[in-house]
Amino acid sequence: MNLQKQFVQSVRLYFKERGEEWLQSLPNLIQYCEEKWSIQMREPFSLSVNYVAPATMLDGKEVVVKICIPENGFLDELEALQLFQKKMVKLIDYDKENGIIILETLSPGYTLAEIADDEEACQIAANVIKELVVPVPIKTRIPTLKAREEELKKIVEKHSNGIGPISGHTLQKALKMFTYMNQTIRQQLLLHGDFHHYNVLASGEGEWKAIDPKGLIGEIEYDLIQYMLNKLPEKRVYEVTERRVEIFTNELNLDKERILLWGYCHTVLATAWTVDGESYNKGFFQMINVFEKLYATIFDTMSN
Ligand SMILES: Nc1ncnc2c1ncn2[C@@H]1O[C@H](COP(=O)(O)OP(=O)(O)OP(=O)(O)O)[C@@H](O)[C@H]1O
Ligand SMILES: [Mg+2]
Repeated sequence: MNLQKQFVQSVRLYFKERGEEWLQSLPNLIQYCEEKWSIQMREPFSLSVNYVAPATMLDGKEVVVKICIPENGFLDELEALQLFQKKMVKLIDYDKENGIIILETLSPGYTLAEIADDEEACQIAANVIKELVVPVPIKTRIPTLKAREEELKKIVEKHSNGIGPISGHTLQKALKMFTYMNQTIRQQLLLHGDFHHYNVLASGEGEWKAIDPKGLIGEIEYDLIQYMLNKLPEKRVYEVTERRVEIFTNELNLDKERILLWGYCHTVLATAWTVDGESYNKGFFQMINVFEKLYATIFDTMSN
């Protein structure tokens, strides 16, 4: 089977041996899907660590098949999709054991990254996230922001002198801030958990829908940060971020201070995740400074 090179590499990097086994089993899983749902699967989309492909049902209806390694991440995503039903892409069917979900096809299906005007894209993103309001279920497997804090704590313990381009001092500071932020959350909500341009798709005339929820429980301000790490311009990153923060704060009636503080914490964690030997995500890394500077400019000045 001819698989995308980058996809194979990423699966091996993230899932190690389990990933290798899963890659080997993909032809069988595809055949299983085709038989179980009487569908014909076509060439996959551009892939990261899941196998996602368009398919046609017997009656000609188009669907999207997503095949994942049936571990925690998949189970969280499935539960988040179920909880968000009616508010995002429709879940048609699933097979928990084999890590498969069948989704409605969003058409035309291009992503929010196609919108050239950054302010327009940000307004659309704000409108999409505005819809994603669901109370937190009493019993759920979806992790809270405390789990993200724990992830950062593990990184700090393992890399006390810093990781990649991030200094030990910055790691410590971000962890302290993460703890403070978690202790002072006012309203816990079900979050998308991976909200960004490439997970918002055009669906019909002027309509947009979110896909691919990772599922997370916490404060809405946190959910906006991953968006702000994506599709950054070459220049004027500070100004563009300032404007994005402004739009989200106003459109969603949020706490600007907490957006910037979560911005700092999450960006340190998100950058640390990308460190692989000498390489890391430079776009994410520069944003640590941007959030810090924005906070200092707006809030430290006010307290003087
Ligand atoms: N319901 C859908 N309708 C149309 N296209 C879709 C749909 N779901 C997914 N896609 C396409 O497949 C791509 C990958 O899907 P998805 O984001 O769910 O996978 P993923 O592996 O979790 O992605 P990543 O980890 O990169 O965020 C999307 O960017 C989109 O182009
Ligand atoms: Mg995605």
